[in-house]
Formats: sequence, structure tokens, C-alpha cells
Amino acid sequence: MIQDDTETSDLKDGLAISESLSGSMRSHQCGVLSESNVGEVVKICGWVNSRRDHGGVIFIDLRDAGGIVQVVSNPEQQSVFSVAESVRSEDVLLVEGEVSIRPEETENIELDTGYIEVVAKSIQVLNKAEFLPFQVNERDIGENLRLKYRYVDLRSTRMQQNIRLRADLNRGIRSFLDQNGFTEIETPMLTKSTPEGARDYVVPSRVHTGSFFALPQSPQMFKQMLVMGGFERYYQIARCFRDEDLRADRQPEFTQLDMEMAFVNEQDVIRIAEKLFASVMKSVAGIELAETFERISYQEAMNRFGTDRPDMRNPLEIIELTDAMTEEQFQVFQRPASTSGGRVAAINVPAGGSLIPRQKIDAYTEFVANFGAKGLAYIKVNDMGQGREGLQSPILKFLSDAAIETILERCQSKPGDLVFFGADKASIVNASLGALRVQLGKDLNLIAEGFYPVWVVDFPLVEYDEIEKRWQALHHPFTAPRPEHEALLDSDPGQVLSRAYDLVINGVELGGGSIRNHKFGIQDKVFDMLGLSKSETEEKFGFLLQALKSGAPPHGGIAFGLDRIAAMLCGEESIRDVIVFPKTQRAYCPLTEAPNEVDERQLDELELRIKSTAASKSETGSSSA
Ligand code: AMO
Ligand code: AMP
Repeated sequence: MIQDDTETSDLKDGLAISESLSGSMRSHQCGVLSESNVGEVVKICGWVNSRRDHGGVIFIDLRDAGGIVQVVSNPEQQSVFSVAESVRSEDVLLVEGEVSIRPEETENIELDTGYIEVVAKSIQVLNKAEFLPFQVNERDIGENLRLKYRYVDLRSTRMQQNIRLRADLNRGIRSFLDQNGFTEIETPMLTKSTPEGARDYVVPSRVHTGSFFALPQSPQMFKQMLVMGGFERYYQIARCFRDEDLRADRQPEFTQLDMEMAFVNEQDVIRIAEKLFASVMKSVAGIELAETFERISYQEAMNRFGTDRPDMRNPLEIIELTDAMTEEQFQVFQRPASTSGGRVAAINVPAGGSLIPRQKIDAYTEFVANFGAKGLAYIKVNDMGQGREGLQSPILKFLSDAAIETILERCQSKPGDLVFFGADKASIVNASLGALRVQLGKDLNLIAEGFYPVWVVDFPLVEYDEIEKRWQALHHPFTAPRPEHEALLDSDPGQVLSRAYDLVINGVELGGGSIRNHKFGIQDKVFDMLGLSKSETEEKFGFLLQALKSGAPPHGGIAFGLDRIAAMLCGEESIRDVIVFPKTQRAYCPLTEAPNEVDERQLDELELRIKSTAASKSETGSSSA
């Protein structure tokens, strides 16, 4: 919104329109009127937020982007009154009237304009809201309905605040980066596949029959080439497209704050990102963050929290027991403890003995089964002084005294605590106890207030894909290995650590990036290790490899999920609530009904033929959020 500092009224959040730019239809915004306007005849426009008939006098709350003001219509002015009587919620009005002080005891302290009202001299209905799928601000409307009639939903206080906060966020980001030597640059949307681990959205080319563009999964390769092109500090608020399984924090098209810098190492990128975050959180939401954020290694995150995106507000941790269980009789623990890749671990829940009844333990056992756990052993600690007598558990009889002692010691259990166990392949123990930790944190109200950022670093460069039988990049294939691990690329890829970093806040992965391979030799070697043949590499990434040989500086960067940051700041669970026109979880837009079929002629021009339409039709038709 255009602002002119000399003339703006004092509205918050960029809602104010300067008088010279407010247009000729109205003299004021509803929400700016105050006692200082008393006696003035004003012209205001807006939507009918509500209409109340109080024994002959009609009150209309008129709403525009600046707020709400009460319009009063008295029966003495019959022609105006009859219009007032006819208006309904969401009709669009132009009201001319005199600003008056409200009679004593009729003030509304909830409203900024609550001490005044506009006594209508004329009311013009600019447009009737003949169709209203739901009341604006109505609660408990199904999400599909909200999305189908999004233009009505967007009028709600919640969505108005969310979308404005998102705009503030963009403004704060641009302001910080502009002041720090970054250049905002746009990169192509019609492009070639960028590997970020999802499927591509593809666009057929008419000119090059049989060929397809891919929409970018991220601007990764372009931003690297921009740095090689001499733009040492690049940023973009970039739309990205990924065809992947959707969840509350994933959309098929989403927005990244994407950055890249020349002549930097990990510390430099992390420091800039911390400063950016601290600055934006403060200016947008008044939140003070620590000057530097905690850092933990990937391995430590997996060991302590079972995940690489830990919620540090949750005090529960996973405690290692593997080494103490190798000699036990109890097969459930002994087998994974003495098998490579196995893990035995526990979570100690303070006061869990009384907080978690037997039934709930059964429910948690079912819960962890979703993550592959075959059971959920537990020990209730009643009394510490009495050895096994003070404990209660179906597995007690299988465990040695030494094992019990180690468990209680490592868990620092106190009387009244409850200890849960996981024993299996490490991946299953991590997934199940990691999820149990999150669930227990919620159920027992253990999550602290505030924002707890943490950098996760020292990621492995690659992980082995058992299905495809090959190494896969944990981030993307342009991430550099630690220089001291380069020699392991051939001999032991699984041991190579990368120069990547992820930013996690409150259990949400908000961003990730890395220092890149800027030397042809290393990049080529990484492609090789990922099982790409020379011809495949040439076909997919030949242009990038060429660029690396043309004077590429050392460089690195990061990208943040802007939708996720906005959702976090708005206190929303789903990023759909901070996106104006999002897709459902089935990647469908209920408003425009996209995706949909195209004309036979368009297909002919593209020389495409649809194999079968039945499946795709039923998908979109039954789509739900
Ligand atoms: P990455 O794939 O980690 O990195 O993406 C960066 C951030 O984007 C957000 N994000 C998403 N948000 C909503 N919906 C999605 N489907 C979605 N996918 C990702 C997350 C994530 O942390 N090119 C690299 C960055 C780099 O190396 O500089 C990249 O895209 O918050
Ligand atoms: P079982 O011998 O299978 O009856 O299991 C004894 C106890 O160990 C039960 O409480 C199970 O829930 C628990 N249990 C079984 N398998 C596992 C496992 N893989 N991890 C943790 N607990 C388990």
C-alpha cells in the first residue's frame, strides 16, 4: 500500500491510506474516525459487518481495511432508514453522515472507534451480497468451504491479520537484506529440473514438441550461477514447486526466502541468518531472540530427540541404553543392543506414574506402532529405596539388577516417574520415541512458551537408499563435503560429513542451506558417488559443471520456508492459513477447480494424448482439505 508520511493518519500495520491517495469515492477510512472528527460530515465505504435493529433505530457496523465504525440510522429520515432496513451482512455501502459522540454508556471499548458513530444522511448500496456461503468470522467452517469461497474467508479478522503480518515479514526481510548489500534478483520459472528430493511439476512446450519445462523445486542452480556471475550477495522471495506428499506444513507451491553469497563459510551464513531472524522477529512480532542460536550436531539431535528437527521447548529427552543391554537375558532388549544399527533407549517422564494411567500406556503403545515399534515396555517407579520392590513393570522379571540400576541412574528417575523403552533398529527407535516425546510434551503440557531456535549441523553428506540401492544426497547434490572428508568420498561415503546447516525453531524446519562445491573436481566426484553416469551428469547438470570451470568463487547460502515462518508468527498450525489461495492436501484448488482438463486443441498443439482420464477426474472431484 502506498504511504505518504506527511499525510498518513495514525493507523497501524500499513493500513492507512494518505488522504491524497484515498480516492474520490470516500473521505475517510472507517477505522480512522475518532473524536477529532466530531461534527464533520464524512463519506465512508465498506462491508456490512453486522446490522442491529434496536426498536426503531438501526445500527450498522461498517467494516473496511482500516477497521469498523458504527453507522446509525434514525426513522425520522425515512428514505435513508428504509435503505438501512434492507441491508444485510456483507452488502457493500457508501455512507454519508455526520460524526457524533456516542451517548453516554453506549460506548464500545472493544472498538478503536467505539466513542463515536456516524449518523447517516444517506446510504447507498454499492452492491448487494446476494450470496453468502458463511458469515465472515464464523467459527468451525470446514476448510474446503473456506477455500472454495476464499474471497469471503479472507475478510475475516484472522485472515486479514495473517496476510498483513506476512506482508510485514516480507517488508522486514527486504529492508534487512537491502541494508546488508544483497541484490534482489528473479530467476526463471520455466526451467530444468532442480533436484530437491521431490517430483517435478512439468510444463509441455509447444515450440519444442515433446519437450517439457520443469517448474523450479528451488532456484538452487540459478542462485549459484548468479554468484558466479558476480552478484556476490543474492536474495529472492521465490516461488518453488514440489510434487510431494502434502502435510500441514507443505504445499505444492510455496515460497522461500532464498539467499546465496560469495566468499563465505558456514559461520558467515549462519551469522547473517541469525541477524536477519533477530531483526525480522523483533520488527514484525516484537520477539527478542538470542543473539546467537544453539547448535547441535545431526547425530546428537538424533540421539537426544530422535529427529533432526527437535523442539527444544520440550524438556523430555531420549536416553541411551544400548551399551548397557548387550548381556541381558531379555531378548527384546539384548538383540537390538548387540546388533549393528540397533538401539535401546528410554524416555523418563517425571511424575508419569500418576499422570499416565494404564489405558493411556496402551494408547501410546498403539501410537508408537505407527512408527514401526513392536511394543512399548515401561517401568513405573514407585519407590527408589527398595530396589525392584519399588518398581512396577511387566519386564522387570527379565532384567538383571545391574540393568535396572543403570536404567534408573541414566534416566535420573525419581519416585513417581514412568520410564518408556524402545528397542529395535535405530531408525525405528528414533522415529517412535521421537514422536512419543512430542506427543507426551503436548499431552502433559510440558512445552515451554517462546521461540527456541537451534542450528542442526554436521549432517552426513549422503544416506543409503535401500530401495534404490544407491547413495542419496541428504540435502542436495551441490552441498560440499567437509574438506577433511573428501578422501572418504570413494572409500566410505556414509562417513562423510557435509557443510550443511538447518535452522529449526520449535520443532519446525524453517530453513536449510550449505556451502557448495565450487570446484569442478569435487562436484563431479559427488555426482559419481550418487551413481550418476557421465552422460547423465552432462545431460542434467552440464551447464553447471561448465560454470564451475569458469571462475566460480567459493560460495554458500540458505533458504527459509516463508510460509512456515509466517505460520509460526501467526500462531497457525497450517501454512494454508497464511497463504491466500492454497491447495488442499490433495494438491487441488477448490476455488478455481485447478488442476483441470485442457481442450483437445491445446493437446493437439502440444502433440499430447491423455492415456486415461478416469482416475484423475475422481481425484479432484472428491478432493478434501
Ligand atoms: P530445502 O529443500 O531445505 O532447501 O527448502 C528450504 C525450506 O523451504 C521450506 N519448504 C517448504 N515449505 C512449504 N512447502 C513445502 N513443500 C516445502 N518444502 C520446503 C522449508 C525448508 O527448510 N535449495 C535449498 C536451499 C539451499 O541449499 O540454499 C532448498 O531448497 O522450510
Ligand atoms: P513381549 O515379550 O513381546 O510380550 O514384550 C514384553 C514387553 O516389552 C511389553 O511391554 C512390550 O510392549 C514391550 N516390547 C516388545 N517389543 C518391544 C520393542 N521393540 N521396544 C520396546 N518395547 C517392546
